[in-house]
Amino acid sequence: KLIRGEIQVNPLDNHFPPFQRHRRLRASGPLRSLLRETEVSVGDLILPMFVQEGLSGKEEIASMPGVYHFGLDNLRREVDELVQLGIPGIILFGIPLEKDDESSSAYAEKGIVQEAIRALKRDHPELLVMTDVCLCQYNPAGHCGIVRNGQIVNDDSLHLIAETALSHAAAGADIVAPSDMMDGRVAAIRQRLDAHHLENVSILSYAVKYASAFYGPFREAAHSTPAFGDRRTYQMDPANAREALREAASDVAEGADMLMVKPALSYLDVTQRIRERFDLPLATYNVSAEYSMVKAAAMQGWIDERAIVGEILTSFKRAGADFILTYHAKEFAQWQREVE
Ligand code: PBG
Repeated sequence: KLIRGEIQVNPLDNHFPPFQRHRRLRASGPLRSLLRETEVSVGDLILPMFVQEGLSGKEEIASMPGVYHFGLDNLRREVDELVQLGIPGIILFGIPLEKDDESSSAYAEKGIVQEAIRALKRDHPELLVMTDVCLCQYNPAGHCGIVRNGQIVNDDSLHLIAETALSHAAAGADIVAPSDMMDGRVAAIRQRLDAHHLENVSILSYAVKYASAFYGPFREAAHSTPAFGDRRTYQMDPANAREALREAASDVAEGADMLMVKPALSYLDVTQRIRERFDLPLATYNVSAEYSMVKAAAMQGWIDERAIVGEILTSFKRAGADFILTYHAKEFAQWQREVE
């Protein structure tokens, strides 16, 4: 009889059916690091930023601790820091002083986003400046397209959306990202940009955007809550995944350069399916409530924030995203610095 410790083992018991020793490859830190399949780096992250017309200084957004409304001067100062930290780019959201039915401050030559683009590109020519292209912050109805008789009309909205994208591109944006979910907007934007010799400006389409409660804190931040109804006649039903493939296929056909899935966390399956079906670069948007939930729990001391954020961001890359829009970008970059 074999004796192991105190336990007596019958030799017959040692004849286990064959099995795999997965633990062999987890035995040490260097080995785990060598075999890691996905890794998030600062270079994968884009920070969403809010720039507010007429604001001097900055104001923290109550439902998103650590995220601010910036006046233009403060935005520039903040972006200096981001560039120091190695963050490759930002996506700008504007909060205008005036809203009107035609959303005219969305495409005004001296609009707040247009001014911000010019200033940031002057300060940092290499910084990737992306813009959210949408009308909801710019009209009193708070809808992403034009409203007529209580309906959000598609084709008339396309002209204003294309005009907005053009004004961003003309101010120097590298990438325009339409988030309005009107049909045909990628085609309309591409045509308008090309007609103005802006063929090198790329389109990151919010191709798959769900009607989600996870945008709640953002709408407070952007003052863009719909005044009536909701966004379900243009944003997608969270229950649908095949529809996401149809939306993405249209945007690819219309000339999108990159695709995006939004929100990120509850839609990892969709990101994976888009990744498998299309070869375009793919992003995912880790939206406002996904950020706020982590922050709230972290502030209570209930979770290990750094570990949770690392795990969440890793899950997006594992699902197939090439890059991530996330409010955690700056802290993540700071944490990486501390580790180095
Ligand atoms: C504008 C827009 C929204 C978000 C990005 N662009 C809000 C919405 O569609 O209701 C949400 C971003 C976030 O929640 O962080 N259409």
